[in-house]
Amino acid sequence: MPIITCIEDLRILAKQRVPRMFYDYADSGSWTESTYRANEADFQHIKLRQRVAVNMENRSTRAQMIGQDVAMPVALAPTGLTGMQHADGEILAARAAEKFGVPFTLSTMSICSIEDIAASTTKPFWFQVYMMRDRDFVVRLIERARAAQCSALMLTLDLQILGQRHKDIKNGLSAPPRPTIANLINLAGKPRWCLGMLGTRRHSFGNIVGHAKGVSDLSSLSSWTAEQFDPALSWADVEWVKKLWGGKLILKGIMDPEDARLAADSGADALIVSNHGGRQLDGAPSSISALPDIVREAGSRIEVWMDGGIRSGQDVLKAVALGARGTLIGRSFLYGLGAMGEEGVTRCLEIIQKELDTTMAFCGHTRLQTVDERILLGGRQATSTLGRATGSAAHQTGLTVHEGISADE
Ligand code: GLV
Repeated sequence: MPIITCIEDLRILAKQRVPRMFYDYADSGSWTESTYRANEADFQHIKLRQRVAVNMENRSTRAQMIGQDVAMPVALAPTGLTGMQHADGEILAARAAEKFGVPFTLSTMSICSIEDIAASTTKPFWFQVYMMRDRDFVVRLIERARAAQCSALMLTLDLQILGQRHKDIKNGLSAPPRPTIANLINLAGKPRWCLGMLGTRRHSFGNIVGHAKGVSDLSSLSSWTAEQFDPALSWADVEWVKKLWGGKLILKGIMDPEDARLAADSGADALIVSNHGGRQLDGAPSSISALPDIVREAGSRIEVWMDGGIRSGQDVLKAVALGARGTLIGRSFLYGLGAMGEEGVTRCLEIIQKELDTTMAFCGHTRLQTVDERILLGGRQATSTLGRATGSAAHQTGLTVHEGISADE
């Protein structure tokens, strides 16, 4: 077993152990993948200011996300087909998150069901929904999330139509995989994965099959999306979901300050600056470069979080410095899951927390609550050149993306 010291080690191991179709599903973006790459690359362009001779004793990465105490401001993002990265993947990831003290979000497009997660954990988790044409099905999903005592509902706003992912089409992505010659040859090289799958009955979309009208068998995420996800989604639907749910609501997929203002107007508790991991609108700016404008527009009225490209605790710290009060990781934990199951997710969280803690100390802070853009080289200007590679709106309009965040905030 190789020694795992960073998220990249987990990625390499996951690539060896997870069938290509599912590894590629997680580790790819739409069309040219430029936004997918920019999410990671833009973090690298932000430089940190090292400080010395500052008392670094008694550090803590603890924080709060929508009033919930967390070991660090990092939640597990809702990711489709997680139970195909590893048998019972959602259960394992939820358990790892619970033990570590960070939130787990179950995707509607998961393999394990809401009820599976509720039966396998002891603390409330979060549940993610899409707006489907079949509103009765959405109502039932929300009722199931309530019955499972989920403590927050996350409504995804950016996947009413699907960005084309070339690899998924070429791989014939389906859950469970179709027994084509190419798939069988690939599976033969993944004995651990196959053994795990033989030991579970969870092989298809657990929240949907047997629950949605007329769906007894469902193998393809893309065909379900095309048939069921409602392209007419509007802010009135957001209001409808908010009323129906009545609890904490998180809106995912905000990339524009105007939409952030509307999200704050909706009365939701948090919004997530997210381009869906570069899987939807290729050519959109990276999430980290979109963050400062959104914080400036709406940060005083709604918690602003971000996801996309986080591969280290340093990335989390940079997001916090730019005003994010929380972050979400998707691929990072999926790599851990595919590599080593629950232990791999725990390892991922440990790696990120250690990097976060150490980097915070190098920057002269002992707690995240005092961190702001002054830890970044260039301070307010630290992100002003980001987005050039992808032609972000901020660059095109010549805005300085970070102005407006007060050094005292
Ligand atoms: C689902 O959320 C996906 O990105 O495939």
